[in-house]
Amino acid sequence: MALAEVVVVGSCMTDLVSLTPRLPKAGETIHGHKFFTGFGGKGANQCVQAARLGAKTSMICKVGKDSFGNDYIENFKKNGIPTEFVNQVEDAATGAASIVVNSEVKTLFNPAPALADLNPEFYTHSDIFCCNESEAEILTGITVGNAEDAGRVGCILLERGCKTAIVTLGPEGCVMVSKNAPTPKHVPAQKVTPVDTTGAGDSFVGALAFYLAYYPHLPLEEMLKRSNCIASISVQTTGTQTSYPYRKNLPQNLF
Ligand SMILES: Nc1ncnc2c1ncn2[C@@H]1O[C@H](COP(=O)(O)OP(=O)(O)O)[C@@H](O)[C@H]1O
Ligand SMILES: *[C@@H]1O[C@H](CO)[C@@H](O)[C@H](O)[C@H]1NC(C)=O
Repeated sequence: MALAEVVVVGSCMTDLVSLTPRLPKAGETIHGHKFFTGFGGKGANQCVQAARLGAKTSMICKVGKDSFGNDYIENFKKNGIPTEFVNQVEDAATGAASIVVNSEVKTLFNPAPALADLNPEFYTHSDIFCCNESEAEILTGITVGNAEDAGRVGCILLERGCKTAIVTLGPEGCVMVSKNAPTPKHVPAQKVTPVDTTGAGDSFVGALAFYLAYYPHLPLEEMLKRSNCIASISVQTTGTQTSYPYRKNLPQNLF
């Protein structure tokens, strides 16, 4: 046997993954829309990644004498991982992890650079579609000069299938409109003295993605106020990423 350069002593688990619209409450039964099994476990994952990069590996772990264990040994072999130290035992079952993945992380689409003939599926597949004034004009033909124009763009984007549309307006903040709240709402930004607005839109979209992922229960308007606040800080210093603030330097009421 070739000498292993990476020896992993660690877990090896069969993942039982259910995709559901939301997480069940304690004791509740809900319908999922997809189920699959996968090979997981932190130790085995690391060993597989190292092996796929070309490392000579060896895995030290135990699995049960059951179908999950047999399948896992096959999986190690497929990945070129020697299995002489993968012990198969009678008195315990292969580790299993029951994983429920909810559909609550939303898709946020930023159509940059904009195309007049954007594939219509981009609208229907976006939970949130976020564009700036010039992108709005390319996509809809409407010149956006104020919040009212942005609201009209938002309504057209809803007609094209977006669930929520946001149009950013530079110093004026942004306008939001949703299928379930179809009256456009202007969310103004604070008045600041801009130094360099390069990358403000990306700061805004990045901040919004952060709130969607980590504070999914905040109302959208509140997420947008906070994203405006972060992007408006980024325009007050030069550079693109160099101007993006860190959490530790931001007001803690943003979190
Ligand atoms: N002059 C400004 N004052 C305050 N906030 C600004 C200013 N310019 C941009 N922002 C913030 O950055 C966001 C995105 O800016 P915008 O100019 O619309 O995007 P882009 O960088 O794509 O052109 C705005 O919604 C706002 O929150
Ligand atoms: C909007 O974003 C595009 C990138 O798609 C950029 O080229 C353009 O300058 C931005 N428009 C405005 C009004 O800032």
